[in-house]
Amino acid sequence: MKKLLKISTKSPEETEEIGYNIGKSLSGGEIICMVGDLGAGKTTMTKSLARGLEIEDYITSPTFTIVNEYEGRLKLYHFDVYRIGDVEEMYDLGYEEYFYSDGVCIIEWSNLIEDILPKERITIEIKRGIDDNTRDIIIDGTGQKYEDLIKELNY
Ligand SMILES: Nc1ncnc2c1ncn2[C@@H]1O[C@H](COP(=O)(O)OP(=O)(O)O)[C@@H](O)[C@H]1O
Ligand SMILES: [Mg+2]
Repeated sequence: MKKLLKISTKSPEETEEIGYNIGKSLSGGEIICMVGDLGAGKTTMTKSLARGLEIEDYITSPTFTIVNEYEGRLKLYHFDVYRIGDVEEMYDLGYEEYFYSDGVCIIEWSNLIEDILPKERITIEIKRGIDDNTRDIIIDGTGQKYEDLIKELNY
């Protein structure tokens, strides 16, 4: 039976370790959705995940564009759709070229574009915990590839 992976972290470094391990385990074509309030840790997690993909560039959230592209062991397409007005903007961008590529897509605020997300994906939800440095991280995978990937993280 499918199980959600729930991890509590007590520092940004602990969250980064999870991201790094996920990044290392990716083989291409994955969709990773990041959900959580402003300041939850979506970009923190994305940066460490990029390190796991051997990306050397400095990762910042795309602000004036919806997607930033990076090259490492695999290509990374980092979306932040927080400011998106309408899903239509994703069509204008040609999002399918990214979502159905050999690269890895990370989508911050993926809940805002729920309708166009592939059914098979990983969703990482980050919630603030009891104090400033605590986060509850819930990782859910839909599809065999993603369920296996989460199992192999060994948390
Ligand atoms: N356990 C933790 N995990 C992740 N980030 C944390 C944690 N504790 C504190 N933080 C801090 O919270 C902030 C998260 O910011 P950011 O990753 O930009 O959030 P988001 O992209 O979700 O808006 C960072 O300043 C980070 O250092
Ligand atoms: Mg962010």
